[in-house]
Amino acid sequence: MASPEIQRIGVVGLGAMGAGIAQLAIEAGYDVVGREVTNELGQKAQERIAHFLQRKVDKEQLGAGDRGAALERLSLTTELAALADCDLVIEAIVEDIDAKLALFAELEGIVRADTILATNTSALSVTEIASAVETPERVVGMHFFNPAPLMPLVEIVRAELSSDQAVEAAFRFGERLGKRPIRCHDTPGFVVNRVLIPLLNDCLRVLDEARVSPEDLDAAMTAGAGWPMGPCTLVDLVGIDVHVHASEALYEKLREPRMAPPPRIVSMRNAGLLGRKSGRGFYSYD
Ligand code: CAA
Repeated sequence: MASPEIQRIGVVGLGAMGAGIAQLAIEAGYDVVGREVTNELGQKAQERIAHFLQRKVDKEQLGAGDRGAALERLSLTTELAALADCDLVIEAIVEDIDAKLALFAELEGIVRADTILATNTSALSVTEIASAVETPERVVGMHFFNPAPLMPLVEIVRAELSSDQAVEAAFRFGERLGKRPIRCHDTPGFVVNRVLIPLLNDCLRVLDEARVSPEDLDAAMTAGAGWPMGPCTLVDLVGIDVHVHASEALYEKLREPRMAPPPRIVSMRNAGLLGRKSGRGFYSYD
């Protein structure tokens, strides 16, 4: 498979991660087709991107004209068929294997034979996702970190059958977004989450063991270990549902007790305390 020159990007799912990826791509000069399931969700993402680009204009990091031009490069759709001309499609939908399998199978029937299909999954197997298509060599992982516009890393994940061309094209695209891409294989949690998920779960267990408050635990890890943000603030940012899901997925695959989500955070998830996005997690957000 000869990889095309990547110019037109499709992003499926415009939640916090998908919107962040779309923002990066339009800022880097790519045309982006963003797909959400409803027009309302698409517009919400567009407003979010417009807001963050305006903040960059306010802080003189971006010209007002460049902001306008970037926003014009983003088009919204509710139809997967609108992704037909994309050179690279990045999936950032819900972390549900069945939903991803169905999406990839449908996408394969829509895009060109040389279109690269990437998944932003954080804890599912890229190889398993690629099993939904008849051309798994075109499937790679492109795992961005939250918040995607600010975090420099992107993990370029090689699944069992990924082609060298697809991996290298995704790597170069990551570089063109201004990111620091790394190459890794499709192992549970890849590189960062393999380390970060058990570490965050240790932090959350310490809340109960040391009877420390979330504020003091966060202060301990920022003031005592140099973390840029404390673990409770970070889990609130990532989303408590996302963190529980990633922990469960890694525990299921690795059977290491530290991967299992602490009961306290499972209860929070069950109660709808999801962190920033729900307005309440370890902290309250207005
Ligand atoms: N999207 C776009 N722009 C954003 C944004 C977002 N979500 N959030 C903030 N910004 C912009 C804002 O415009 C902000 O400026 P204003 O407040 O003036 O509007 C600007 O970025 C700078 O924000 P901050 O002042 O908050 O920046 P900071 O210097 O405090 O750094 C940080 C913020 C980069 C998030 C830093 O705190 C950090 O590195 N935290 C750790 C984050 C982390 O570990 N992420 C990984 C999570 S794990 C994961 O993602 C893996 C997974 O699979 C679940």
